[in-house]
Amino acid sequence: MMDKTTLTFGEIALPADPFAAFGIWLRDAEASEPNDPNAMSLATVDSDGLPDVRMVLLKGFDRRGFVFYTNFESRKGEEIRATRKAALNFHWKSLHRQIRIRGDVEIVSDEEADAYYASRARESRIGAWASLQSRPLENRETLERRVEDLGSQYGEGPIPRPPVWSGFRVVPREIEFWHDGAFRLHDRYRLTRTGADDWTASRLYP
Ligand SMILES: Cc1cc2nc3c(=O)[nH]c(=O)nc-3n(C[C@H](O)[C@H](O)[C@H](O)COP(=O)(O)O)c2cc1C
Repeated sequence: MMDKTTLTFGEIALPADPFAAFGIWLRDAEASEPNDPNAMSLATVDSDGLPDVRMVLLKGFDRRGFVFYTNFESRKGEEIRATRKAALNFHWKSLHRQIRIRGDVEIVSDEEADAYYASRARESRIGAWASLQSRPLENRETLERRVEDLGSQYGEGPIPRPPVWSGFRVVPREIEFWHDGAFRLHDRYRLTRTGADDWTASRLYP
């Protein structure tokens, strides 16, 4: 019988609460990964059910879910707005750990998106306007000219958030914690949502 309150990975123990456990491993990664400990792969599917995957940066998480920001007219933006589903994967190589998340997707509030947008460097705020993300670009100069023109247009004044740039929140249905073990005998736990904020943990064969 599995201990319902603790996930054990050899010497390592995590609380069986998925958000508390996620926070501990993210902090460990922040302390040890050389860059982008918050980088995660984001999987989506198109209208044919064909999957796609790319990296994005986690910009916030709490009991509601996992937030990243992007252009809503990008390929991922279109796919998520159509399906309202996504999966995430973190792999921290030097820690030999993986976290997988699958769930439904919400759009963050305008207030939340505005607050995050305002925290970005001016160049990144201009970049969000300049990049017609995922659409064909004739050459590099065209992009650079857009950045320049938008820079002069806004001058030193405030730069509003582009209407097509905002955040998605992946509201997890399940979260899996994986840690490698000797001879491929890894430890895996899947935490599955069973209620508004109730979760059940099961150990899986590696
Ligand atoms: C480490 C890393 C982090 C990234 N973070 C983001 C991000 O937070 N948001 C974003 O829109 N694109 C991010 N990108 C770029 C995406 O991987 C991708 O190229 C872009 O969003 C277009 O994807 P799409 O055409 O599937 O929509 C990141 C790329 C890397 C390698």
